[in-house]
Amino acid sequence: MFLALEGVDGCGKTTQLKLLTEHFIRHGYDVLATREPGGSRLGHDLRRILLDPAATDITPLAELFLYLADRAQHVAAVIRPALAAGRLVLCDRFADSTIVYQGYGRGMDPSQIFELCHLAVDGLWPDLTIVLDLEPAVALARAQARRPAAAAAPEGRFEAESLAFHVRVREGYRALAAQNRQRMAVVDASGSPEAVFDTIVRVLEERGLA
Ligand code: TYD
Repeated sequence: MFLALEGVDGCGKTTQLKLLTEHFIRHGYDVLATREPGGSRLGHDLRRILLDPAATDITPLAELFLYLADRAQHVAAVIRPALAAGRLVLCDRFADSTIVYQGYGRGMDPSQIFELCHLAVDGLWPDLTIVLDLEPAVALARAQARRPAAAAAPEGRFEAESLAFHVRVREGYRALAAQNRQRMAVVDASGSPEAVFDTIVRVLEERGLA
């Protein structure tokens, strides 16, 4: 099984991924928890380039292809082998991040990006993608609060984007999920980590995935 978690920066994906990993390990699964960008050896270098706040001159198209390169390598070298070995793969962000951030966020055509993602993943999509839905102002405040006081500046290039950018990202996720109810589910992420986790498990049970 292959599950992905998505959502705006600060929505709580990383916490939920940790809770889900523990949940599935308790239930006897061999779990691979991974992330994008950066889930492969090549991806590790690409992540540094992609999230460097000083890299202000990367064009939107170059950025798109770097995310696609990260994903192509991640799928071929890490995710497919893990699935073939019978492991459960949990991924912090996947192709929908590209459709939403580079498409809805940067203003490129989401359906064209879907096609490019389909090529990059060589047809492999998660069994379910869970979108943690949270108002961007709340999510960004959370992201800021988790940083040590000494590091007041935004962590990556995306956290430094305007609120309007993150509002487009959030709306993009909701639009995409509404068009793809089979492979995506939206979960309200405004509650406590435990409450959000309970909702995720309920969604997985409803779909026969947990
Ligand atoms: P991530 O490490 O998940 O950051 P966070 O934990 O703050 O959500 O992702 C890094 C950033 O990369 C995030 O702001 C979203 C962006 N991103 C894209 O723009 N396109 C993509 O395809 C992916 C995977 C991430």
